Amino acid sequence: MEMDIEQLLTERTELVDSALPSLLLEIKPPELAAAVAYAISSKGKRIRPALVTLCCEAVGGRKSDATFAAASIELIHSSSLVLDDVIDKSEKRRGRDTIHKMWGTDMALLTVQILAALSLKIASRDPRLIHAIADSLFCMGEGEAMELVDFARDKQSYLDLAFRKTGSLFGSAAEVGCLVGGGDESQIENMSKFGKHIGIAFQIRDDVLDCISKEDDLGKPVKKDLFMGRPSIVVLDALRSGITLEKMMKCNNGELMHLVADSLDHAKEAAQEQLEMAKSHIGSLYDSPAKRWLIELGEYIINRTK
Ligand code: IPE
Ligand code: IPE
Ligand code: MG
Ligand code: MG
Repeated sequence: MEMDIEQLLTERTELVDSALPSLLLEIKPPELAAAVAYAISSKGKRIRPALVTLCCEAVGGRKSDATFAAASIELIHSSSLVLDDVIDKSEKRRGRDTIHKMWGTDMALLTVQILAALSLKIASRDPRLIHAIADSLFCMGEGEAMELVDFARDKQSYLDLAFRKTGSLFGSAAEVGCLVGGGDESQIENMSKFGKHIGIAFQIRDDVLDCISKEDDLGKPVKKDLFMGRPSIVVLDALRSGITLEKMMKCNNGELMHLVADSLDHAKEAAQEQLEMAKSHIGSLYDSPAKRWLIELGEYIINRTK
């Protein structure tokens, strides 16, 4: 392969980004249009669009067939981030001030609604996508609520939470990619499970990064899970091993990594387990460059540093 995975992500980003600016033309009032434009122009890693287009190709479609589906999924993702930042009271996202910090909470909530509406408009080109998107919107809502009521107390309930919060959208991304690529029923089911498990792995890695990274590298606040009392797989494991929250909260970054080193190892193992499960679901898929990229995407997800 001549490209590496980061180059592939960039290439797929360009594909999706070209579909987005035209959406902004008819938003009123200008304050709302500005907030939505800000959300769309601040670029993340664009992992989900890459997943959509690769799944499309892996079942024999062309990546251009999946551009609208990829844009639709990325818009749902953006909307979930704007909402999540309101709930987590985060002031940084993708290295910039968050929408609610810039425009206030009310305008941020309306931005969430508009981004979701734009996603549905795009998806309606193929009504089969609406079902998949509604499923993950529903699950993400449940997942975000579960965090607030101290739901995850053990590994299994954590994994259920991580599925709802993050795995569900990865599952839908894979599903819609497969749908627009002309995949058959069993391919759709398997790819969707692949997406679900790499999504759970993605959330586990997100929890690890929350403990080991710096804000400047991540572009968003760190140690948020610890200080907001959010169920992080690392913090849950550390608590189980007898380390108190108080002790963790007293640490600076370097100290925290040292204190919870065993729990970080356990989290990395859990992410690897999810990747193995993901791979088992595409074992029967015929070999292709797209399939090999999907596996690389999975590896990238569990090793990424941002
Ligand atoms: C962040 O997702 C939210 C989680 C599900 C953990 P990403 O890390 O994919 O966010 P961007 O799009 O790259 O900013
Ligand atoms: C976010 O989980 C999941 C969704 C956006 C649905 P986190 O709260 O862990 O994500 P970050 O760390 O703020 O990106
Ligand atoms: Mg958050
Ligand atoms: Mg997080």
